[in-house]
Amino acid sequence: MAGRMVVTGAAGFIGSHLCEALVTRGHHVTGIDCFTDYYDVAQKRANLSALAGEPRFRLIEDSLTRVDLRRVLDDAGVVFHLAAQPGVRKSWGTEFEEYIEHNIRATQMLCEAMKGSGARLVYSSSSSVYGQTAQLPMREDHPTRPQSPYGVTKLAGEALCLLYGANHGLPVVCLRYFTVYGPRQRPDMAFHRFIRAVLSGEPLEVYGSGTQTRDFTFVADAVDANLAASIYAGAATVFNIGGGSRVSLNSVLDLIGRVTGRTPDVRYREPQKGDVMHTLADISLAAREIGYAPRVGIEEGITREVEWLDAKRRGVGI
Ligand code: UGA
Repeated sequence: MAGRMVVTGAAGFIGSHLCEALVTRGHHVTGIDCFTDYYDVAQKRANLSALAGEPRFRLIEDSLTRVDLRRVLDDAGVVFHLAAQPGVRKSWGTEFEEYIEHNIRATQMLCEAMKGSGARLVYSSSSSVYGQTAQLPMREDHPTRPQSPYGVTKLAGEALCLLYGANHGLPVVCLRYFTVYGPRQRPDMAFHRFIRAVLSGEPLEVYGSGTQTRDFTFVADAVDANLAASIYAGAATVFNIGGGSRVSLNSVLDLIGRVTGRTPDVRYREPQKGDVMHTLADISLAAREIGYAPRVGIEEGITREVEWLDAKRRGVGI
């Protein structure tokens, strides 16, 4: 990987881990983040604390739609585009404006600024592009019928990247992550909410019966996928990035109970609009083309997230 590495959404859950991995490998990294208030900005600042004072890391606090992109892209070898308005269930109603702005408009502006620059683009997409009707396991060539407005915007972003690949020769890889978890996970996501509630002895809510399943993916595996995708020399394409197994929410709660030694106090609630019932990634294409192989299983991954949240609660470390 030649040139400077650019990470959009650098202060986010996956972005901050990716910045650290790149710096550790000796790269010079420009991170950009506009610190939206989707969740507590203090957590985003904490996500970057390990990089404070790191001479190879530079942070630009701005939005992709406002910043001078030439400045951000100067000398860029690879752009990892993780900046987005996340969250499946919050994307209804007037909130949709934010999703258009951050997920579609920003992606189009980035592609436009990158065309002809020689830099490669790794776009963070989502399993939510498939929707409810997909067969399992989900394969990259299956129909895409998003079930949430969020999924619609992630699919539009993906389509834009591929379009710039086909028409302007932009080297691009889109990674469809399947429900990423682990230390620094966003506070609106299931594992974070469940573990936090169990550790503080509070009730937690499960939307639906808890029999829904996800191909949960540990954050270090998503980071590895980005590193591998950044040197992919093939034509513009899409890869599924899953964790390697399918687990129900009820099994996750059992595991959290085992790891913490406490019994979760579960309240079952109505299913939420936008959620799909099951996801499972067929990762054979990513395995073949970029050597992707998830390394962290669900029990180890949950243990690592429990350790992080426990330390955070007690005010030690991040
Ligand atoms: C996650 C991310 O939030 C999306 O940004 C990402 O694009 C998507 O994965 C993906 O696969 O690409 P989601 O699968 O909804 O979306 O992840 P969680 O928030 O961890 O939810 C998992 C399941 O737990 C869902 O069925 C949800 O309804 C349920 N849940 C969530 C609860 O039952 N209770 C809660 O308090 C939170």
